[in-house]
Amino acid sequence: QELQLNLEQIEKGGYDHFMLKEIFEQPSVIKDTYRGRLLADQGIVRLGGLENYIEKFTNADRIIIVACGTSWHAGLVAEYIFEDLVRIPVEVEYASEFRYRNPIISEKDVVIAISQSGETADTLAAIKLAKSKGAFVYGVCNVVGSTISRETHTGTYTHAGPEIGVASTKAFTTQITVLTMMALRLAKAKGTISQSDFMLYLRALELIPNQVEEALKTDDKITEISAVFKDARNFLYLGRGYNFPVALEGALKLKEISYIHAEGYPAAEMKHGPIALIDEQMPVVVIAIKSDHYDKVVSNIQEIKARKGKIIAVVSKGDTVVKEMADYVMEVPHTTEALTPLLTTIPLQLLSYHIAVMLGRNVDQPRNLAKSVTVE
Ligand code: G6P
Repeated sequence: QELQLNLEQIEKGGYDHFMLKEIFEQPSVIKDTYRGRLLADQGIVRLGGLENYIEKFTNADRIIIVACGTSWHAGLVAEYIFEDLVRIPVEVEYASEFRYRNPIISEKDVVIAISQSGETADTLAAIKLAKSKGAFVYGVCNVVGSTISRETHTGTYTHAGPEIGVASTKAFTTQITVLTMMALRLAKAKGTISQSDFMLYLRALELIPNQVEEALKTDDKITEISAVFKDARNFLYLGRGYNFPVALEGALKLKEISYIHAEGYPAAEMKHGPIALIDEQMPVVVIAIKSDHYDKVVSNIQEIKARKGKIIAVVSKGDTVVKEMADYVMEVPHTTEALTPLLTTIPLQLLSYHIAVMLGRNVDQPRNLAKSVTVE
């Protein structure tokens, strides 16, 4: 027994929990995920599993992304980037809904299945259904040799390494890394991106691991913020555009490991419901980085303040406007908008982690949840 405990300590690499270790591994696993695939200096991005199937995508009528949980959130981020850069319509579906609603699928559709474990029952069933209708199916999995990686026609592995914590962290950011590389490769092939923008993205993606490292340095500050809000009963998470899925993922992380009720919403939808919940008890986490939506998010923050909500904002480094308005800020470095989810996710992971630890929760194995859901 003692030996077992010691082994676990070693596996955790000096961290208190697997989840924290996995959060801090993100700079290196994102690099592992793009290593040999992204050669920014040479203007190359290539994915072994994609090269022979580029035309499947460029000739496709649409892309359907199927996934569950956190992987579904990565799919939502991919929807923004694929439509933005590749100009192919994208639908993102919960695998469990897709498989049971007699969906319209044909040989002209490409399905991307995203799964950390590669074993999720609903995602697997959605793949089988899509294949039976003649669709081409591409897998984005982390576990090598997993069922989904074998059932798909081709695909790309994330190189996140084993993810032990039930709440997914490094799998999410490496999934986004793979999906971003796919979008860039396909945009290049389809001619929907200029050479200068293409180069800009490649260089920006290459910088992400260092920027994640920088974002992780706010850990102490986030610990302090966590202590202030750990007893809140509800949290609201808001974001727009590329950061709307990040708001959903931030809320999911908090729910999963701290058991605090949290909802993610697109910031502009706040006025269609959640605004009714806002009072001086309500912490609202707002992703308010410099982007095309910045001014709009600033006015959302004003609306929350007018109702005495407590604002915890994720801001771009050097921001002054939101800093003035918010009760607490968590800074992330600046990158091109499409890549911001890779950075804005980091403080939200840390926030949920610290709150859960302070509440004495079982962070790595939260109640009622499984790492891999192999039954429906
Ligand atoms: C479970 C896990 C989540 C995960 C989801 C999808 O709910 O607890 O962390 O996001 O399954 O899993 P997959 O392995 O398909 O990505």
